[in-house]
Order: sequence, then structure tokens, then C-alpha cells
Amino acid sequence: MEFDVREDGTPFSPNFDDVYFSSENGLAETEYVFLRGNGLPQAWERREDFTIIETGFGTGLNFLATWKAWRETQPKTSKLRFFTIEAFPLTVKQISDSLKNFTELETYLSCFCSVYSKPTTDRYNLLFEEGSVEITIFIEDINIALPKLNILADVWFLDGFSPAKNPAMWTPVLFNEMRRLSGKGTSYATFTSASMVQKGLRENGFKIKKQPGFGKKREMLSGVYCP
Ligand SMILES: C[S@@+](CC[C@H](N)C(=O)[O-])C[C@H]1O[C@@H](n2cnc3c(N)ncnc32)[C@H](O)[C@@H]1O
Repeated sequence: MEFDVREDGTPFSPNFDDVYFSSENGLAETEYVFLRGNGLPQAWERREDFTIIETGFGTGLNFLATWKAWRETQPKTSKLRFFTIEAFPLTVKQISDSLKNFTELETYLSCFCSVYSKPTTDRYNLLFEEGSVEITIFIEDINIALPKLNILADVWFLDGFSPAKNPAMWTPVLFNEMRRLSGKGTSYATFTSASMVQKGLRENGFKIKKQPGFGKKREMLSGVYCP
């Protein structure tokens, strides 16, 4: 899988013809779309254990921003479980180069990069802060990895390049599996408002809330599972 960096420094996938995150400000986008879109950090207040599933690990920006928000708001005794699926993992250099300008994440990035190396197994597990933050990266196509999971998500981060450019990421398998792995109050957020995404979510019991998108994007979606 090819990997490129645009002139403005934004990581880019030539194969998918799409960026990994917004060229306007990737970290602000993550905080707006995925954290605020899911009502975080308020939604994890007083939770001793919290589970997030992400579709598309990419550069790890969403994970590192979540870890930072978790550390700033939660006691060390509570546990964050972050499950993410990535078919085309990046190298540690590609990750550190992509995120080096986000100085707010510096501590988390260097901690992550000190132990991460491009995974060679289909399930890659890392523990941080004495196990209070755990990430599991499934190195497989989403349509193969999700049916193997047996966990209940509190929150979904639906990332994964635009549906028009990467329809394989937004299949009925994703939406059916979201239903199977969600419970009362599980929420999701995504940067896209594509109609096929709305349809898949609605047909599987998720409410659709449209909000202004980040930066130049007109709309994004978020909502809760309400079968
Ligand atoms: C927009 S990027 C994710 C950005 C990421 N969340 C971040 O914080 O950098 C989308 C990711 O989905 C991965 N991907 C694309 N198609 C996939 C598939 N069918 N199964 C699993 N991962 C896929 C790509 O390799 C890419 O890393």
C-alpha cells in the first residue's frame, strides 16, 4: 500500500486517493467529530471501564487524542479499551512523521512509538500506563475482523476514507456487526454523511443526528443505538 505526504504535510493514500485526516487541523477534527460527536469526555465520566471500536487505525491520531482526553479526565484506576481495525498498517516512521506537528500529543506519540512496530500478526496488543490504557489493533480487512469480535462497544469511531472512495469499508457487514456489538446507549460518530451510511445505520437500529461537519465539510453524523 502506497503512502504519501502532501505539500501541506497531510498524510495521503494514493491508493484510496484520500487523506488520513483533515488538512485544516487533524487533531481539532478528531476532537470535534469523534470525541465531541460521541459526547466525550462526559460520556465516560464515572465509568471504570470504557470500550471504543474504531474502523481504520491509520496514523493513530484518533487513538492518541482519545488517550490524552482520557488521561486528562479519568483516574488511573479506570480502564480504556481501544479496539481498532486496520488492513494496511503504517510503519512507526510514517506514524511519527504524520503526527509530529501535533505538539499537544508529543508525550503520547513518543510513548506509543517507543513500543510500536509495524504489526506482523493479525492481532496486535499494547498496554500503556500500567495497563490502564489498552489498544488492540486487528490487522485485517474490516469485513473479516469485525465478525470475530465478541465485545460490547460503548462508542464507535467510524473512520476509514470516504465511502465514495472506499466502499469496501462501509459494507452491510459493518452495519450488521455494529448492531451485534452495540448495547443500549452505544453511540457512534463519523465525519461522513453519505446516504448509504445513513441507510446502513438506520436499518440497524441507530438514530441519525446530522450536525455541521468539521472545517469545509457540510455535515457529519452521530447518534445512539436505539433498536
Ligand atoms: C482515514 S484513515 C483513518 C485515519 C485514522 N483514524 C487516524 O487517526 O489517522 C482510514 C484507514 O482505514 C484503512 N482501511 C481502508 N480500507 C480498509 C478495510 N477494508 N479494512 C480495514 N482497514 C481499512 C486504511 O488503511 C486507513 O488507514
